[in-house]
Amino acid sequence: MNSLLSSAFVAFLAATSMASPVAVVPRADAASSTSAASAPTFKPLSPAEIKALQTELLLAPSYKDKEQVLFPPNNGGSANNVSFQFVPNNGPRPQDGSIIVGSVDSIPGLIGTNVAAAIGFIGPCGLNVPHLHPRGNEFLTVVNGTLIGAFLLEEDGAFVGDIPQVSMTLTNFTGMLFPQGHIHWQFNPTCEEAVFSAAFDSSDEGRFQIAQTFFSSMPDNVLTTSLGNPTFLGPSQIDQLRGIIPSQFVVLVDSCAQACGIKTA
Ligand SMILES: *[C@@H]1O[C@H](CO)[C@@H](O)[C@H](O)[C@H]1NC(C)=O
Ligand SMILES: *[C@@H]1O[C@H](CO)[C@@H](O)[C@H](O)[C@H]1NC(C)=O
Ligand SMILES: *[C@@H]1O[C@H](CO)[C@@H](O)[C@H](O)[C@H]1NC(C)=O
Repeated sequence: MNSLLSSAFVAFLAATSMASPVAVVPRADAASSTSAASAPTFKPLSPAEIKALQTELLLAPSYKDKEQVLFPPNNGGSANNVSFQFVPNNGPRPQDGSIIVGSVDSIPGLIGTNVAAAIGFIGPCGLNVPHLHPRGNEFLTVVNGTLIGAFLLEEDGAFVGDIPQVSMTLTNFTGMLFPQGHIHWQFNPTCEEAVFSAAFDSSDEGRFQIAQTFFSSMPDNVLTTSLGNPTFLGPSQIDQLRGIIPSQFVVLVDSCAQACGIKTA
């Protein structure tokens, strides 16, 4: 600023502060200012607040109505009701094998949108077991480490062998589509943790674990018949299988764990 301009500016400031001295006093609701430096920080909702917000949003017919619920006047201009912190401050870092999902269950503000998201921490040799999302396409991007992503194609015609599978090594911010309803998995083939960020085109994408779901079919002869009645798989073997199918989303692949020197139980 040259000196002529700057002295004009000082004169302008003096004039305006004389004309309206209150203008320079910070307003009590300064927090509602839209400047990035003063934007609110995220406060997690309690389970009761989540339930209440879900109910109110479901009773709001248009998206404009929903906005009245989400951003009431005098809320300080906060986007808290449409925000979510996947990993809490000062909490323990999520354990390997954790997948934190932000969907209508945790972010009621997603009601009326077709959006959900997840952050996953897949430890060395971790397998996000074969599963599918009944209501959403997924686009998963690896933000640290490496994952192999794979899914099975839609079967066309009679089963004549393996259903074709497509796969990709995902590293260095590479992402991949996992189409809605398709059986898929991700495997970390390295000895270092991998972290992913996933987006869904449904606010309620859901998840079926394939082995758990299939082997829950009753009665047993539904299973044995659909498997071709193998002589080595009777009711007692099916019971054994049911007892060992993991319920966790992510399990360790033994052969990889050995190579990485990870002790398995
Ligand atoms: C979130 O929504 C609830 C329900 O309308 C409201 O009471 C609360 O003030 C909102 N929170 C913020 C930070 O806007
Ligand atoms: C990932 O990025 C690093 C650094 O740019 C590079 O050295 C490495 O080759 C990349 N890996 C793959 C698989 O592209
Ligand atoms: C990425 O992974 C490497 C190896 O596990 C780790 O040392 C690094 O801290 C990770 N980076 C971030 C941002 O988490």
